[in-house]
Amino acid sequence: MKKIVLFIFPLLFLLTSCTAAADIEEEKNLVIGFSQSGTESKWRKKHTDSIKTELEKNNQVLYRNGYMSQERQIQDIRTFIAYKVDLIVFTPLQEDGWELILTEAKQADIPVIVVDRHISVSDQSLYITHIGPSFKAEGNRGGLYVTNHFADSQKEEINILELSGLPETSPTTLRTEGFQETISRDSRMKIVDTLSGDYIRMKGKEQMEQYIEEHDISSIDVLYSHNDEMTHGALEALAKTDVVPGKDIIIVTIDAQEDMIRKLRAGDVNCVVECNPNAGWFVANAIERYFSGHELAHEIYMPETVFSESNLDTIPTRNY
Ligand code: AHR
Repeated sequence: MKKIVLFIFPLLFLLTSCTAAADIEEEKNLVIGFSQSGTESKWRKKHTDSIKTELEKNNQVLYRNGYMSQERQIQDIRTFIAYKVDLIVFTPLQEDGWELILTEAKQADIPVIVVDRHISVSDQSLYITHIGPSFKAEGNRGGLYVTNHFADSQKEEINILELSGLPETSPTTLRTEGFQETISRDSRMKIVDTLSGDYIRMKGKEQMEQYIEEHDISSIDVLYSHNDEMTHGALEALAKTDVVPGKDIIIVTIDAQEDMIRKLRAGDVNCVVECNPNAGWFVANAIERYFSGHELAHEIYMPETVFSESNLDTIPTRNY
């Protein structure tokens, strides 16, 4: 009898530990659909990479890119629903137009996490959380640099040219709002024109070239650009003029890609506001918390900072 017990016990132990291991394996093996909006910038590529890398550590990830087409993104999400994934992570191209597809996800009992840009839906229960940067604070930081820079200047008017991102997206709206809010404290500051470069380098260059052709660029004191890619384009356009970037025209740009930090060090731009692309850890953490029964905040902000000539020595390696 003892012999049987001695034989059965380790066997039971082996069986239960196998099941426990299988359970853990099962827990780890969520199937997650990840729909990214585009590939328009180095920032975006890093953002994609960060989320994929972090999620793939513990889950099976189905990844699709919408290449800046909302229709394609909607199709991708529909594919995830048909595949009955455990959760959908998506980075919306624009703010409107998601209600229907997210209702389909909700009806299929699939939780959705929105990352980076915001969506505008009347039913807030269509997604469990939004994880992203504070675009308004980014605008505030850019504005603060400009107001500080000109605080002691004798200039009576400070003319600002804005190069804005894709319309009807929250970074574009909020970066304008935050910047406006801060510069409005100094009555000399005025946004004289706003160009739209859709967050794309080539478009930023074209818009700037056209502006230079039709206006007196030497009357502009500040260029406020909503992303680094467009800033690169604008710098290419400015290179064909007598205006010296960083001196004759103060340049504020958002994202903090490595190539723009190099321009900051060279004095070609004056202020680089960070937009944090490293969303992966935050997304993975939210998923883990959600599936272990924790309630998530409806809005999760990621930390960000700002770089200028005053903190060049402490800029961390960018990797994007
Ligand atoms: O939505 C975030 C913005 O989109 C980033 O600033 C920009 O580089 C990207 O295209």
